Order: sequence, then structure tokens, then C-alpha cells
Amino acid sequence: MPVIKLSDDKVRIIKDICAEYGNQEAEVLNVLRKVQNTLGYLPAEVQEVVAAELHMSVAKIYGIVSFYSFFTMQPKGKHPIDICLGAACMAKGGDKLLEAFKKHLNVEVGKCTPDGKFSLSTLRCVGSCSLAPVVSIGGKIYGKVTADQIPAMLAEYDEYEDVMQS
Ligand code: FES
Repeated sequence: MPVIKLSDDKVRIIKDICAEYGNQEAEVLNVLRKVQNTLGYLPAEVQEVVAAELHMSVAKIYGIVSFYSFFTMQPKGKHPIDICLGAACMAKGGDKLLEAFKKHLNVEVGKCTPDGKFSLSTLRCVGSCSLAPVVSIGGKIYGKVTADQIPAMLAEYDEYEDVMQS
């Protein structure tokens, strides 16, 4: 795995967030959540800085990051895709939809396509259960999604990028 060298700016951002929470171990979840919201993900190098600032072991931070599904050690794609696996969406085939996305993109959950365009994750209920099964792409909600709609949904983002580049 390539070693990521954090820029001084990123180290400063992480240290500032830790300081905002008083460098307290008790605030570790809030710190990690804010660091992830700011930097996008929590690779090992980021975890090391957080551990040092909160006076915790790197192993403990790693344990927390890997335990909670809302934390990720992988970078997100330009268009993050989240498949809802909440009860209503599961009852309407959310798991099968997830498999269809995995097959279509040729990526596993938590990973990014090689071009960095799409990443695939799951989530639990976005409050749109009447639209089950639900998929979110970059925060845009798609309801009553069927596997055969996937190519057209993803094509929207190709077209969007073509427009942006022209
Ligand atoms: S269970 Fe999927 S939106 Fe509620």
C-alpha cells in the first residue's frame, strides 16, 4: 500500500479539530467525524495524528474507525454512491440492488472505481422509505430504483462531466 504523506496543512487541520474538542479522548468520535467530514476519509496517517493529539494509541483509534461503518479509510469517489440497506429498502430488494451496482461498477463496498469517479457504500435509512429501494448518488436521492436503471443513472454523471469540461 502506498505511503501517503500528509501535507503540513492537513496536519494543521487535524490538530485544530482535536484542539477544538480539548484534545480529549472522550471526544474521539466527534473528532474523527469532523476530521472525516473535512478531509473525506481517515487513512492510517490521519489516524496517527489524531492518536497523538488525543493521547491515545493508534491501535485504539484504528479499532474505532474500523468498528463504525460511517467511518472510512478509503477515499470516496467523485460521485459517492450509497445504497440504502434499511428495513424498508431491504424489503424491496436493496441487497439485490447493491449486488447489481457492485457488478456494474466492478467494485466492492467501500471501494472506488479505478478512475476515481464512483465509490460504493451502504447506509441505513435516509428517511425516504416510501421510495424504497433508495440510492443516493452524491447526495441526490433516487427512489424505486431497479437494476436496469443503473446504466442510465450513472450516465447522468458522465453527461454532467462532459458539460463541465466543454
Ligand atoms: S429504509 Fe431506505 S430510506 Fe428508509
